[in-house]
Amino acid sequence: MKKRILVTGGTGYIGSHTVVELQNRGYEVIIIDNLSNSSADVVDNIEKVSGIRPEFVELDCLDYAGLDKLFTKYKGIQAIIHFAASKAVGESVEKPLLYYRNNLGSLINLLDLMPKHGVEGIVFSSSCTVYGQPDELPVTEKAPIKKAESPYGNTKQINEEIIHDTVASGAPINAILLRYFNPIGAHPTALLGELPSGVPQNLVPYLTQTAIGIRKELSVFGDDYDTPDGSCIRDFINVVDLAKAHVVAINRILDKKQKDKVEIFNIGTGRGLSVLELIQAFEKATGVKLNYKIVGRRVGDIEKVWANPDFANNELGWKAGTSIEDTLLSAWNWQLKLRERGIQ
Ligand code: WQD
Repeated sequence: MKKRILVTGGTGYIGSHTVVELQNRGYEVIIIDNLSNSSADVVDNIEKVSGIRPEFVELDCLDYAGLDKLFTKYKGIQAIIHFAASKAVGESVEKPLLYYRNNLGSLINLLDLMPKHGVEGIVFSSSCTVYGQPDELPVTEKAPIKKAESPYGNTKQINEEIIHDTVASGAPINAILLRYFNPIGAHPTALLGELPSGVPQNLVPYLTQTAIGIRKELSVFGDDYDTPDGSCIRDFINVVDLAKAHVVAINRILDKKQKDKVEIFNIGTGRGLSVLELIQAFEKATGVKLNYKIVGRRVGDIEKVWANPDFANNELGWKAGTSIEDTLLSAWNWQLKLRERGIQ
């Protein structure tokens, strides 16, 4: 009997890649997603990649009764990977209540229902944004949590506290919080990737849309930071490497290998790369010249952050291995495939 895992937000960018990796390792996956920021076609593409069609239920995690019925229908769900959330930093500043209601309410519903349905573990999608601008780099899990720069970042911090407090109250729940750095790239088959609705907020989808001619030019938000080339530094991590970290976390929970009931891991490469270095790496990997210009800083951006991934490497036995060139090439191949299919 295959172990059953519920993946919320499983038709999204990181969620869909994680579903494939779970299936590759013999898990049975049930996806719930409200399709507010993704399409049900992704389920077809997951099946094309893995050869297995996951169960898919269109459902909003804010629908408590709907979630309760889902757990009853799919008896024996052993753990959850919770991706479903609103995640646009800028939008969260304009619509804070939407972010607090959705991101906090969804998690609260899941945690509330887990004991009733015997769901023993949750892997939570957190973010390096909880660190703000770290005082020390590379940043470890022990770094202080700073006041969030946006309601989006604040929901990640509060959700981590909600999980800690729920477990501390004696709820029969084990949790692993994965603090992602900057997920980029696409599946090597070019059947799964990032599909932002509207104008991309994140760097790499905007970059590939510029390279293919959808956008006129990429604006680089500032080159007057205290970094070697003046542009911001980030830890860009391949989305498939990131997806694999979730499988390792699920294995750890179900194999009862956790040393604490709540564990936190930085999921990054440990390599800082500047925006301008990423552009150069893209041009080198693809041979495509990118049209960009330097403009003013974007409000809310932090200057530089990259992970110390030692704890995840040593304790989880997980390490990001894909090169930045291969990762950027996968993003470009995905963009080309979208054009081929007439999607973008
Ligand atoms: C990266 C760098 C920009 C766009 C956020 C969230 C994080 C996660 C990923 C959800 C910055 C620069 C960007 C552009 C640019 N969120 N940039 N021109 O802000 O590091 O992280 O998104 O999963 O939790 O905090 O990612 O890709 O927006 O920006 O110069 O058109 O690229 O200034 O330095 P960010 P990003």
